[in-house]
Amino acid sequence: FNNLPGKRPPVFEGIPYIGGLIKFAKGPWNLLEEGYAKHGEVFTVPVAHKRVTFLIGPEVAPHFFKAGDDEMSQSEVYDFNVPTFGKGVVFDVDQKIRTEQFRMFTEALTKNRLKSYVPHFNKEAEEYFAKWGDTGVIDFKDEFCKLVTLTAARTLLGREVREHLFEQVADLLHGLDEGMVPLSVFFPYAPIPAHWKRDRCRKQLSEIFAKVIRQRRASNTREEDVLQQFCDAKYQNVLGGRALTEEEITGLLIAVLFAGQHTSSITTSWTGIFMAANKDKAWNPAVEEQKAIIAKHGTTLSFEALSDMEVLHRNITEALRMHPPLLLVMRYAKKPFEVTTSDGKSYVIPKGDVVAASPNFAHMLPHIFKNPKQYDPDRFAPPREEQNRNYAFIGFGAGRHACIGQNFAYLQIKSIWSVLLRNFEFELLDPVPGADYESMVIGPKPCRVRYTRRKLL
Ligand code: HEM
Repeated sequence: FNNLPGKRPPVFEGIPYIGGLIKFAKGPWNLLEEGYAKHGEVFTVPVAHKRVTFLIGPEVAPHFFKAGDDEMSQSEVYDFNVPTFGKGVVFDVDQKIRTEQFRMFTEALTKNRLKSYVPHFNKEAEEYFAKWGDTGVIDFKDEFCKLVTLTAARTLLGREVREHLFEQVADLLHGLDEGMVPLSVFFPYAPIPAHWKRDRCRKQLSEIFAKVIRQRRASNTREEDVLQQFCDAKYQNVLGGRALTEEEITGLLIAVLFAGQHTSSITTSWTGIFMAANKDKAWNPAVEEQKAIIAKHGTTLSFEALSDMEVLHRNITEALRMHPPLLLVMRYAKKPFEVTTSDGKSYVIPKGDVVAASPNFAHMLPHIFKNPKQYDPDRFAPPREEQNRNYAFIGFGAGRHACIGQNFAYLQIKSIWSVLLRNFEFELLDPVPGADYESMVIGPKPCRVRYTRRKLL
């Protein structure tokens, strides 16, 4: 029996075959909003030739996050990334190989490894902001996008790329980025100029990285970066225990960049926007915390000092709750499963459905997060701790495929904001912007900010 008996979720009616696709391709936010208002936590939307079933909120989330890949699979829904990441890695390989590839990456993010990246985070941030004047008008999103690319180049792609090849590699990565449009999710090989450019850029990146990897492997020096980890790593239980090929390393580095770069720079931006807009609730407590940290740890932004910054941590988490950059996380149902909504309705999701959870929607549920539209970092502090419920806060996903880069991301964002809190004041010149739901990784719409240099102590 392929399917369990039972009631199917309500179908969000009235969307013609192609209508669902257009609504989805234009950014699925409105579609979600209408579907949730009409049907509640579980509903199905026909999108072109697929059925997409949305599960909204912690009550209906456990199976989605907990189930193994033989039940809730990623490859079928994320394989649109294959032309970008490349062959032989991540969603182009079976789950056993992918698990080993992610294990290799996890080993690049142990506590000791993270400690060794912190000086690079700090150095890039200090050098970047040293170039700002005494006062000026900027947009956080543009600035942090550049800075995070520099830091990612240094800590992930390696010293050679950061020091000698940065402009060229950044341009090519930008070409890959532009080749990922909402249409690519359904038709990753559609013959459009954005995809042609993507393929050209991907090929050139392969050539550049192959050279860098060969030189790194031939040299006797070992660097502290993720590239080194991939150069040294070996499969354990698959592929005869061999080392990664140059093409696999290139693919994994691109995958890691895609997972971590925009998500981090966007969260850094929202954190700044909300801190600048909430002086009493967020900015001033974060400044006071910096003073206390300096008194305790000195001025060096060590791993320990960054880890001690609880106020800043909560400010970041609250920015991520308000605006998770990934609107949807998705799986493919390889087996049917049952969900029960908070009001006791039971549905069977059939095999073959694309199943989606939405961090943005989950984070706006008023029975989980009080006054969800309000920026309120104290909701994460005792005694409230509103996140302390399974699958309530899912900005980094949850369960089996929770974000591997979470600690890396917090350290990097804290390093950037520590440098800024210690050296600048900010004033928003526009109202707090809305989110731009039409891009793939969702960030703030443009917002002008005035900075003024000052010394904290
Ligand atoms: C997975 C968000 C930073 C690497 C995820 C998932 C989310 C997420 C929601 C789950 C996807 C799913 O369930 O389908 C974020 C956010 C970040 C961030 C909001 C920054 C604020 C990073 C960084 C890296 C990274 C910096 C790497 C350096 C990964 C990887 C996975 C992942 C490899 C896949 C894990 C798996 O499938 O087992 N991330 N991420 N992320 N993230 Fe992040």
